[in-house]
Amino acid sequence: MEDKEIRKRVVKYIRKKIAGLPNPEMAITFADVVIIDRSSRVGSRSDIRKDSKGLVTELTKSIRLNIPIVSANMADVTESAMAISLARKGGLGFIHQFMSIEKRIAQVKKVKRADNEVIESPYRIKPSATLKDALDFMAKCKTSGLLVVDDSDVIVGILTSRDVDFKKYQPEERLRKILVTEVMTKKVITAPANISVKEAITILEEHKIEKLPLVNEENKPVGLITAKDVVKKYQFPFAVRDRRGRLLVGASVGLAVKFLEEVSALTEAGADVILLDTARANAFRVAEAVAAIKKNFRNIQLIAGNVDNPEGARLLIDAGVDAVKVGIGPGSACKTRVETGVGCPQLSAVTECVAVAGEIPIIADGGISDGGEFAKAIVAGAKSVMLGSALAGTDESPGRIYSDKKEKFKIYRGSASLDFQLDRLEDGSLDDVRAPEGESRRISYKGAVGPIIETFINNLCSSMSYADAMTIEELRGRKFRYQTRSGFEEGMPKK
Ligand code: XMP
Repeated sequence: MEDKEIRKRVVKYIRKKIAGLPNPEMAITFADVVIIDRSSRVGSRSDIRKDSKGLVTELTKSIRLNIPIVSANMADVTESAMAISLARKGGLGFIHQFMSIEKRIAQVKKVKRADNEVIESPYRIKPSATLKDALDFMAKCKTSGLLVVDDSDVIVGILTSRDVDFKKYQPEERLRKILVTEVMTKKVITAPANISVKEAITILEEHKIEKLPLVNEENKPVGLITAKDVVKKYQFPFAVRDRRGRLLVGASVGLAVKFLEEVSALTEAGADVILLDTARANAFRVAEAVAAIKKNFRNIQLIAGNVDNPEGARLLIDAGVDAVKVGIGPGSACKTRVETGVGCPQLSAVTECVAVAGEIPIIADGGISDGGEFAKAIVAGAKSVMLGSALAGTDESPGRIYSDKKEKFKIYRGSASLDFQLDRLEDGSLDDVRAPEGESRRISYKGAVGPIIETFINNLCSSMSYADAMTIEELRGRKFRYQTRSGFEEGMPKK
């Protein structure tokens, strides 16, 4: 797209979007606008979530989320625990890139193993194995059940905690003498491979069993449905899952090293989407990397960022990305604008990128700490938001809890902060310190992340109800009005 054509589109979109803005070239942010409310069809905010479609959105061209929230690919925000919690709520977590590829693979696998509709390769053991072998194997695989199969892989029994609970505390020599065949449950209730989850639940309930092996015509195991996993399906009705029932997860790669190999390994491990994570993505070498990844891995969903203007968004889109992450400098730990003078106030950055993005979803990254900013990012046209500090300081964010006389707290380090760079220098993942473009700070310990996500969602539903939007798409179509500084101050609670 020509520069002139880009600018024309942007100005047209902004004129339509923001009433009262003195000049469409002005760079503004969340506090400079209010969402215009409309005579609403929405009865209550619970109407929006009732049929579970109201908050559905696109993260990328082909990945849909059930809530428009993703967690930041930062070392103090997202590893497997955060990604699991977020995916169960309907969003998605991006495993950060600041650890070895082996560790990132392990983190991705942890998320993919957390919930299963059907376990496709259940752990097996031979009837001739000793109870000691079985217990060691169960501990190693962190499983409470093993299928017992003969030499032709035909199922002959099942060994569950019920079979071993009373025996496992016996002396080791004794455990070595007991064979699996002596303690396993021999009468195994099985089901055919194509059974529906609903039918499986009926069988689990009827027989009061925890595990239901799925077998083929030769009675060989082809899967396993467990009561624990089935319960999770009901417990987390909005969870986002792949076609095998596993939670969705994203993984980040940087540009520095062998990024193609890393993309391959992370995808192999089960990552559903790759994030090419650079502080400055409006660069030809990033576009070249995007094109190389898309050329080598045709089925991959690829996000790249960050950019803050239409030129950057178009560069990535023309190179083939499936979503663009927008935000340079709005983050709560960012110092980029201070240190370099570069960047764009976030509402303008998002709006302008959306204006030229066409079908490619925009993720608004940074500067969102309350429901108002969240809703404004969506009205600006983003299809999802990335949260950093809002999710940090929780049980699910990495890092230890500290405490002093005042409170319990965790540390939130900007990815380009001096503290984080020094930590990376120490663990060998960085050779030298660069001029810091971020800060680190303490964040009060907040407990579980679940209620925080729920609050964001409830606030969003309220915004939608004011704006007469039953869906995220409708909210994206709503408009702003430019407000004065005193207008903004009027809206703040008075001390
Ligand atoms: P919030 O406001 O949610 O922002 O805490 C999270 C986002 O901030 C970005 N980020 C940085 N930006 N220097 C920067 O300029 C940094 O050190 C830094 N660390 C994180 C990042 O986009 C993240 O998602």
